[in-house]
Amino acid sequence: MSLRRDTDALAHLTTGYEPKLLEIADDSDPLLLKVSEPVPVEEIACSETQHLIRDMIKTMYAAPGIGLAAPQVRILRRIIVFYLPAARDDVNKSGVPLTVLINPNVMFLDDNKVSDYEGCLSVPGKRGLVSRANKIRYRGLNERGEPIDVIAEGWHARLVQHEFDHLNGILYPSLMAQEDKLLTVDEWKALTGK
Ligand code: NI
Repeated sequence: MSLRRDTDALAHLTTGYEPKLLEIADDSDPLLLKVSEPVPVEEIACSETQHLIRDMIKTMYAAPGIGLAAPQVRILRRIIVFYLPAARDDVNKSGVPLTVLINPNVMFLDDNKVSDYEGCLSVPGKRGLVSRANKIRYRGLNERGEPIDVIAEGWHARLVQHEFDHLNGILYPSLMAQEDKLLTVDEWKALTGK
């Protein structure tokens, strides 16, 4: 069930294509509030999809960020890319390798919710407290069209839920409790000591 791949497992995608940086839409863009369309399975192998995935990975790393959803680069397709650095892996401490997840679905595995501060490349300079399921199961297809089926907890689960929300036009500020206000990064640092 767990996802364990070499970090260079995506090397096959680099062949003959130089990925480019894409512009990341910010929350003034109404496209971010739209629901994205599934990728037809037969289109996963198409160069257009493969190039988009490479571009998204490059854009995510350059930002820098740990997750990016296709609507954030103004493509309304159900594709997300993410990785979790070991230092941010509060459960396994080992991190999660770079993952491409196409047409995902997410199932909540327990009623436990935890609150933590999130940021988003499309909500620049801000942090907000969001309550999310602590344990989920997510399924979908990888960049080769192979099934992914993972149980995730803690920040891994939070990250996938955040990126999944983008595919449904949901930005994290809309999930915040009324009494919690969106903080600037400076306010967040002062509050959390990070
Ligand atoms: Ni985001």
